[in-house]
Amino acid sequence: MKILGIETSCDDTAAAVIEDGSKVLSNLVASQTNMHERYGGIIPEIASREHLNSIIPIINKSIDDAGISYKELDAIAVTNGPGLSGSLLIGVNVAKSLGYAWDKKVFGINHLEGHIYSAWLDDLFEDSKLDFPIACLIASGGHTDLIIMKGHLDYDVIARTRDDAAGEAFDKVARVLGLGFPGGPEIQKAATVEETSMQSFPRPSIKDSMDFSFSGLKTAVVRKAEADGFYPSGKIPPTSTQIAEYAFEFQDAVVDCLIDRTIEASNIYNCHGIILGGGVAANSHLRNKISEKSNVPVVIPKISFCTDNGAMIGAAAYHRFNEILSSDWDMDAIPNLSLT
Ligand code: KG4
Ligand code: ZN
Repeated sequence: MKILGIETSCDDTAAAVIEDGSKVLSNLVASQTNMHERYGGIIPEIASREHLNSIIPIINKSIDDAGISYKELDAIAVTNGPGLSGSLLIGVNVAKSLGYAWDKKVFGINHLEGHIYSAWLDDLFEDSKLDFPIACLIASGGHTDLIIMKGHLDYDVIARTRDDAAGEAFDKVARVLGLGFPGGPEIQKAATVEETSMQSFPRPSIKDSMDFSFSGLKTAVVRKAEADGFYPSGKIPPTSTQIAEYAFEFQDAVVDCLIDRTIEASNIYNCHGIILGGGVAANSHLRNKISEKSNVPVVIPKISFCTDNGAMIGAAAYHRFNEILSSDWDMDAIPNLSLT
């Protein structure tokens, strides 16, 4: 079964053709980073206008790269939420228009479900021979959710962030350190030390809850940067040693918060494995440290499948295909779509 997966929930225009939920026949992403980086964050108006420019060429090329004709597609799946409404609308309307013109089944996929199913791409999940239940950590620019996956398409969301998402905290702290956007990869690159003489940043937790909270950690970085005299910027710029030490200590604090809660959830719910997904799962410190600390196998998609992509939508859609009896012509973009 060949499915065209379309993803435009935020600032990446992405399309892929996926066979049987795992084999990646093509996977293309048109990144808008250079349009947004000068603003230090994503501007929704720009994002939707750029999606409009890129989406048709990206879809055409993904079908060409897959070496098939559109006639061979079994379905078109598109992210219909959560995300930015203007961005989601472009993907949803293009998917419906193509589905109508090409006479294909069209349906929506939850963006978080896509991130979870990125673990099935390239047979990664099958090869790791995991059993349900599985603890899934989805950490991105918009989400930090802990989900217990009890079986295919069967989820309990057990924790989420109370304030900033993990990726959002990376992006904000990168700005404090004068680094570029998106902040996650920049902080990872800057964190060239393995230990520092600085006092560690706090690892915030919430009493009697598995929820995450990153705004206090971000504030701790801001307060220290103020005390060290380089924030607000304009006075003394941070030295390269300071940048490396702040980046390492901040990254280590976020990673500890994510790992501790995920391993705790995996233990409490007797999980047989852990899946990571979302842009923050591209972080090498997180990838290494969770694999060292977990006593159950950890499945981590390759980096290009952690950040937003169409392949994950095609993978999730394969598992949803049979329950969708006909095209969802009434499908709308739902910016706050929930997983359960
Ligand atoms: O999943 P994603 O591509 O888009 C959303 O759904 O939000 O995630 C983007 C987020 C950004 O906040 C970015 O800074 C973060 O993922 N990110 C990283 C890394 N690569 C991307 N965070 C930490 N380390 C990385 N290597
Ligand atoms: Zn995402």
